[in-house]
Amino acid sequence: MTTTQRYTDYDTWAWLYNETMGPDYGKAQLTLLERVLLPELPTNAAILDLCCGTGQLMQPLLDAGYQVTGLDGSAAMLDYARQNAPQGHYLLEDARTFHLPSQFDAAFSTSASLNHIMALTDLVQVFRNVYQALQPGGLFIFDLNHPEQMQKWWCGKIVEGEITPGYAWRLTPEYQPEVSEGAFHVEIFQAQPLASWIARFTQPFKQTLYRLLSLRRLTRFRLRLLSRFEKVEPTWTRSHLTYRVKGHALPEVQTALQTVGFTHIVIQTIDGDPTLDANHSAHFICHKGSG
Ligand SMILES: C[S@@+](CC[C@H](N)C(=O)[O-])C[C@H]1O[C@@H](n2cnc3c(N)ncnc32)[C@H](O)[C@@H]1O
Repeated sequence: MTTTQRYTDYDTWAWLYNETMGPDYGKAQLTLLERVLLPELPTNAAILDLCCGTGQLMQPLLDAGYQVTGLDGSAAMLDYARQNAPQGHYLLEDARTFHLPSQFDAAFSTSASLNHIMALTDLVQVFRNVYQALQPGGLFIFDLNHPEQMQKWWCGKIVEGEITPGYAWRLTPEYQPEVSEGAFHVEIFQAQPLASWIARFTQPFKQTLYRLLSLRRLTRFRLRLLSRFEKVEPTWTRSHLTYRVKGHALPEVQTALQTVGFTHIVIQTIDGDPTLDANHSAHFICHKGSG
């Protein structure tokens, strides 16, 4: 174990994550769970959402009758999760150090949360903790961004971002293949009261432009504007968050799962294609042996 501190880095991003990524990512991941996980489970199964974040994925599962527990290291993310899925159970714990009795029929971890586990030894410990928390035969599903994919796409350019009347944000990922480590930078701009009459005069035009640029088909132009947003809105305050990630080699992850005792390990794309390439993240599906 390289560290025993709880992972709290998302506390500062939580309000924005809850409005943007949380709802967006939840939808895509739910489709996968509906296809792969739910058909395998009894109707009132107990499910662990490991690194549940703001919990948008939990409410549809609770609505369907499952008992869902969300675990996360960030207290602020969990505060939003409690609002988004009030009937869920919650644990403010670190994935590397939690210990639960064998009570869950399934566990999942979505949106590449486990890429934040930087050391392979820690990842093994996470798998061990999940294994312990599952009932015999229990299913574990998680996704990871992998080195080939990160090398292709994480190249220091803005890849996502939004502009709203009150705030704007842009996300820039980068990757260093020599050490299989990367980071993504989240820069947040927040509007301030307009000081000059010129700013008050031009603001309605800018707001119309920002609304227009929120259209999906204008993403390229939105990102271009975001790349120089500090010049476009010089009075908006700017904050900068950085999230470190590890590009774990997929064969090493598979071995780590086997070491802990997981069996029937399948790696596929989110659409179920067993051929992984640089354009897709890796979705792992595996079982705890039925003892
Ligand atoms: C990208 S967000 C994903 C949230 C959610 N699963 C989703 O799909 O929207 C990553 C989450 O993992 C959590 N996380 C990362 N490392 C963690 C750790 N070691 N222990 C507990 N939570 C962790 C963060 O706090 C954050 O909420």
